Amino acid sequence: MERTYIMLKPDAIKRGLMGEVISRIERKGYRIVDCKMMHLDEAILREHYAHIADKPFFPEIVEYMTSGPVLGMIVEGENAVQGMRIIMGATKFEEAAAGTIRGDYAFCTGQNIIHGSDSIENAEIEIKRFFG
Ligand code: TYD
Ligand code: MG
Repeated sequence: MERTYIMLKPDAIKRGLMGEVISRIERKGYRIVDCKMMHLDEAILREHYAHIADKPFFPEIVEYMTSGPVLGMIVEGENAVQGMRIIMGATKFEEAAAGTIRGDYAFCTGQNIIHGSDSIENAEIEIKRFFG
């Protein structure tokens, strides 16, 4: 069984999409083994998004990701890391296929509903970061 770190971003919560997104995760057959709502600060975002911290859009990401609570989750299942990336859809909202979470709900890339770890190694790091 593989574990991945999934995080519903502030717009998912503001728009009332938590239930919808969680349903999709559960319907696919994954299990949510832990979850918690959190308010993130810039320091943890600089860690979590270190790979984009020097991009011009990073200040906007910080502003957005601190604009409201997020829902962090540990999701478990066979091939959960790659499988969740598939049901999430592409990063860029205009490239996310219909039927994926981002494809169906995201209307801009900066506020694309959901985060999911991009590798087994990063999943472990991110689960430790947010769940200790
Ligand atoms: P990244 O880790 O590359 O994408 P993903 O979330 O699919 O793993 O980027 C992190 C977040 O940064 C992404 O979800 C949305 C934001 N972002 C932008 O706003 N514009 C961009 O061009 C990129 C690459 C990311
Ligand atoms: Mg990423």
